[in-house]
Amino acid sequence: MSARIIDGKVIAARLRTDVAAAVRTLPAQPALAVVLVGDDPASQVYVASKVKQTAEAGMRSVEIRLAAETEESELIARVATLSADPEIDGILVQLPLPKHIDEARVLAALDPSKDVDGLTEASAGKLMLGKPGLRPCTPTGCVILAKSERPDLAGANVAVIGRSILVGKPAALLFLEQNATVTIAHSKTRDLRMLCRGADILVAAVGRPEMIKGDWIRPGAIVIDVGINRVPAPEKETAKTKLVGDVAYAEALTTAAAITPVPGGVGPMTIACLLRNTVLAACARRGWTAPDMLAGG
Ligand code: GUN
Repeated sequence: MSARIIDGKVIAARLRTDVAAAVRTLPAQPALAVVLVGDDPASQVYVASKVKQTAEAGMRSVEIRLAAETEESELIARVATLSADPEIDGILVQLPLPKHIDEARVLAALDPSKDVDGLTEASAGKLMLGKPGLRPCTPTGCVILAKSERPDLAGANVAVIGRSILVGKPAALLFLEQNATVTIAHSKTRDLRMLCRGADILVAAVGRPEMIKGDWIRPGAIVIDVGINRVPAPEKETAKTKLVGDVAYAEALTTAAAITPVPGGVGPMTIACLLRNTVLAACARRGWTAPDMLAGG
């Protein structure tokens, strides 16, 4: 038996279509500002996609590129200016930032009503308290993908492997919000294999290539692989490197009921959820009724 492939590209495209349709119903165009500091190649690719897809959804995109040597105070001033600008609805500061800049101080300058990444203390607090607010994008994408396979997550055993601020912790809270029974595992967890074997839904967000083996997966489980790891390609292939997830994909195909591929699984969902958050932020700030942008979420 081979697992169903959860096609993140198709589900993300559907969500982007919903977002674009929602934008057309709004009295004015929402605007998203994306701030990129430095020249990290992966971040450049992500930011270019965000800018392109924002425009494709019918929204205004403002791109701010700053040199890697930019002082922390200068970046904070730029974020504060965007926060105060009534024409801007969403602000995203691409991470990671250069080492000399404290991410927390930069995020503290970001108006929480424009926090489309869901990374400020205010957004994290609302998530923790179960209050409405802007939710982090990648974890939201994970929930949408899981629900595409299992619309009702109530009572499901979810294992989240990884406890990062960007993915693991918020993913655990979002699955909890769906009434799942959630366990968070991390580098100090004892017998990770057994813990994974108990999961109806396994969310892998550790950032270690193919760490989770096929026989760690419960037969019939849904596997959501958040990892994007670049590794040397096998010699017979022409490309020098290839992308793999945190799950040993070929092995997992034989045990899981459904699995997200890498690439083409969780990745495309992040930007689609960012676009949705931008519409939600614009509606909340400007007193508009938020249109439905369901796509399973
Ligand atoms: N870097 C990698 N993923 C993300 C993300 O979701 N948001 C931001 N701001 N930076 C990232």
